[in-house]
Amino acid sequence: MTSATNKAIEIAGLDYSFGTDETAKQVLFEIELALEPGEFAIMTGPSGSGKTTLLSLVGALRRPQGGKLNVLGHDLNTLESPELEGYRQQLGFIFQLHNLFPALTAFQSVQMAGDLHPEAAGQMDDRIRALLTQLGLGERLDYRPHQLSGGQRQRVAIARALVHRPALVLADEPTAALDGENTKIVLGLLAELAHERGTTVLMVTQDNRVFESADRLINLVDGRLDSDVRLSE
Ligand SMILES: Nc1ncnc2c1ncn2[C@@H]1O[C@H](COP(=O)(O)OP(=O)(O)OP(=O)(O)O)[C@@H](O)[C@H]1O
Ligand SMILES: [Mg+2]
Repeated sequence: MTSATNKAIEIAGLDYSFGTDETAKQVLFEIELALEPGEFAIMTGPSGSGKTTLLSLVGALRRPQGGKLNVLGHDLNTLESPELEGYRQQLGFIFQLHNLFPALTAFQSVQMAGDLHPEAAGQMDDRIRALLTQLGLGERLDYRPHQLSGGQRQRVAIARALVHRPALVLADEPTAALDGENTKIVLGLLAELAHERGTTVLMVTQDNRVFESADRLINLVDGRLDSDVRLSE
């Protein structure tokens, strides 16, 4: 079902529990959050506060258990195949644990993500090369994960999430393994996507070096939205 909202993300009264009945553990409580298209939001909060759970709900990797969860005009409470797959194709997901296929080179990893989006084919090889070069991996296109450092692998995973030009980027601690220089590059790339191409970015981080790139700072504590501050203007 498509809704009339023009927000990129609209969440209201969202609860979430793991497990059922007496073993159920509620980890999200009454989340309220709205992001405009092109907004760059950073989410922080202590370990276990529910950040990854919230991101996985927005990314339709988990089913909501009620409350309002509208993303890119889709009601995720009712979204079914094939619209669900169509919705996921509009996302760029950078996971907390960036799993790369061991057999694929950096170039091939990114290419595989591009192949899932045939509408973006054509100039794809040039785009992959440019993106990996922008991320400092221009000399490492043909390296496999075991030949790359942790931070280099993380940057391949970032390229993989961005190559198809998603409408919404969901990033879970994408700079955790990066040094200052590379953190700056990745943040610059995400800010450029948000502010020049209208990509909405929701990024989890504990890294206070990156806050100045964002428009919003959201803090989650014990599964509740503790603060939501607008940084720009
Ligand atoms: N699959 C699961 N089954 C049961 N409980 C889970 C599951 N995944 C997460 N939890 C619990 O939900 C709570 C929130 O976890 P979540 O991964 O969302 O936290 P987080 O804020 O991302 O933490 P971190 O900063 O350490 O990544 C934690 O208490 C965790 O133990
Ligand atoms: Mg997490």
